[in-house]
Amino acid sequence: MDRTASEIGIFKLMENALEVELLRKEYGDFILNDISFFLPTGHIMGFAGQNGAGKTTTVRLILNMAARNKGSIKVLGMDNLFAEQKIKQEIGTLFDEIFFVDNWKVADTEKAIKSFYGNWDGALYRRYAKDFSLPLNKRVKELSRGMKMKLMLACALAHKPKLLILDEPTSGIDPVARMELLEILSSYVSDGKNSVFFSTHITTDLDKIADYMALIENGNLFYAGLKNELLKSYLLIKGEHAQLREELRAKIIGLTLLRTEFEGLIAASPAAMAPAENLRMRTPTIDELVVHLIKQKKNV
Ligand SMILES: Nc1ncnc2c1ncn2[C@@H]1O[C@H](COP(=O)(O)OP(=O)(O)OP(=O)(O)O)[C@@H](O)[C@H]1O
Ligand SMILES: [Mg+2]
Repeated sequence: MDRTASEIGIFKLMENALEVELLRKEYGDFILNDISFFLPTGHIMGFAGQNGAGKTTTVRLILNMAARNKGSIKVLGMDNLFAEQKIKQEIGTLFDEIFFVDNWKVADTEKAIKSFYGNWDGALYRRYAKDFSLPLNKRVKELSRGMKMKLMLACALAHKPKLLILDEPTSGIDPVARMELLEILSSYVSDGKNSVFFSTHITTDLDKIADYMALIENGNLFYAGLKNELLKSYLLIKGEHAQLREELRAKIIGLTLLRTEFEGLIAASPAAMAPAENLRMRTPTIDELVVHLIKQKKNV
């Protein structure tokens, strides 16, 4: 059966949980430079870049906490300016800073937050508090940093959002708590209806849970797409300094000179695959990929 034009329109709108088009923000010397990317529903996108690259700025623009100079943003198919209130009911957010009152108990936090949401589910909040080992009678000031992040996540999830937008959710928390958080996010998207957009400078987070990746350097987005596509495009190359001839040097992306060896990326073309002069080549890790790509962008 043929779909009507309006049905196709609705279907298209719902395909992407997040669409950012030619987004620009000027802060004096810093320019978020006409960035575009999309996140298909049901997936996790990691947004990586160095300190000051523009990650929080992008998140704040998506949430209409700052005014853009140009561009458009759709969240769950809705314009982020015109549908701001409706969008807020349907998304969960988390920032690096903890904004709960120190003296609130875990149980009070629910009382303070739930009035903002029409579809708050108290039982779900308490289930998350239990799953995240958050005692209801503990005060915010008595929680560790990881526990505070989990408290904010419980609040972000208790109104059953369709999209989570998280700014550095794993910063400053230990590897075990970080892994638990990544597990929570993985289970959150497992039914294919929910999506996550999170910024990070911890590339192992991308490795573990992101299907899509957006990479930014000094306000310029230089990759946005499937993580595996990017991984397939490059090889990590290593060799001794003496092997670094001019012709090879010109091909290496993010060349890094270590004590006796050099390291960088090379385009994964059939020619590059041929073993040459004992150079070592292999698939890069996400960490190696991001480090060398950002290094290259900084140098051009
Ligand atoms: N309100 C503001 N006024 C002026 N400049 C700002 C403002 N907010 C951010 N900037 C500038 O925008 C640039 C990007 O900052 P942003 O906070 O987006 O970086 P980030 O990628 O989130 O970094 P980090 O990893 O340190 O959190 C910086 O140069 C910063 O100084
Ligand atoms: Mg930031």
